[in-house]
Amino acid sequence: MKKVGILVGREKSFPDSLIERINERGQGDVVAELVKVGGVRLDEGRTYDLILDRISHEIPFYRGFLKRAALEGTVIINNPFWWSADDKFFNYSLATKLGIAIPRTVLLPQKDYIESINNESLRNLEFPLDWQGIVDYVGMPAIIKPFDGGGWKNVSRVNSLEELWKVYDTTGTLCMTLQEFIHFDQFVRCYCIGQEEVMIMPYDPRKQYLSGEQYINDPTYLSPELAERVTNDVRTLCRALGYDLNTVEFAIKDGIPYAIDFMNPAPDAERVSVGDFYHNWVTDNVVNFIYQRLEQPQAQPRYRWDALLNPEPVAETAGQALSAVASAAEQAARTIIPQPVREIPADIAAGVSELISDAATAVSEFLDKTPETEATALSEAKKARPSATKPPKKASAKSTTRSKKSPPPEV
Ligand SMILES: Nc1ncnc2c1ncn2[C@@H]1O[C@H](COP(=O)(O)OP(=O)(O)O)[C@@H](O)[C@H]1O
Ligand SMILES: [Mg+2]
Repeated sequence: MKKVGILVGREKSFPDSLIERINERGQGDVVAELVKVGGVRLDEGRTYDLILDRISHEIPFYRGFLKRAALEGTVIINNPFWWSADDKFFNYSLATKLGIAIPRTVLLPQKDYIESINNESLRNLEFPLDWQGIVDYVGMPAIIKPFDGGGWKNVSRVNSLEELWKVYDTTGTLCMTLQEFIHFDQFVRCYCIGQEEVMIMPYDPRKQYLSGEQYINDPTYLSPELAERVTNDVRTLCRALGYDLNTVEFAIKDGIPYAIDFMNPAPDAERVSVGDFYHNWVTDNVVNFIYQRLEQPQAQPRYRWDALLNPEPVAETAGQALSAVASAAEQAARTIIPQPVREIPADIAAGVSELISDAATAVSEFLDKTPETEATALSEAKKARPSATKPPKKASAKSTTRSKKSPPPEV
């Protein structure tokens, strides 16, 4: 009997559907349930063959538990080691090397730092920052967003250097990116399951979360050529990053799909949000993938931390072909490896936490606002839904003292 655990936050219909379908298909040979976990002993044995993780990005205890479970050979979707290491700016840069179109993006030094950091600690930082150079490169309007964010938290559109400074001054200890704003003609959000199965969802970010109008079911929304390019880009990105469940968002302008968000290892799959069709599709495909993984031979763990984070290609582990913990041979082939080893499709010419947090919220409206009111609209939206948008407690506490403790703002 194989055991599948689902680790969840507030979402309801997706875990329920998964558990129901896995159990139906398993007929007692495979059993799915919500994970139950308390204090974790360091010598704890394997309790699940596979865990689908939907929430450890917000609950560090779960992340620690999952990493420990990986050591026992539990398959974890998505790889908790890589998810911990990843960030959006790395993603954007990697994607550029893979030939994906990415809006011009700059990683910004933080506005504030933890309390023990003072001016002396920051001698490596260029000061003052070349704000004009940054803005000249990115262009205006631009989007300022956290380098590891999700769920639309702390995402703002700015139209001038002054607006940028105003927003930047509120970002506290968050590390932010500044990105060229794409005045998109079309927008799609794409599921990718098992780094292979792709569903392109026309998605209107200007519509309200749960309005039933965000996700449109229209298979002809993109031209066949564009759909093919988007599908290839989605697979390229998810394979390079090793995510088995992810969404990739594209803002499409003049026929070019710009990938703007593809670090969504716990993508929204709730029926009330994505609708019946997409909910059923993602459930079916995740269930298929789970069964696929369960059927793969279980390997002897090879206790090397780098095997957990970034499994080696099979060929290099003679005699141990399927032995890397958690991912084994399959993930080896999916890992970021040099171009001569991995074949990049020639036709690619250019190219958290988004959990059903309340977060998508009213924030979507900011895209429609007039330049003067956008930043304000965003902060109003944040006030209206404080649970979805408030910064981590620690950071917010610190940010109240930042003017004393931090170096003066460059602006
Ligand atoms: N470069 C961009 N150009 C246009 N719109 C953008 C851009 N970046 C983000 N957005 C808008 O902001 C929303 C949230 O940003 P995103 O990068 O997806 O962050 P999150 O991980 O919080 O979802 C996107 O769905 C999109 O509507
Ligand atoms: Mg997004």
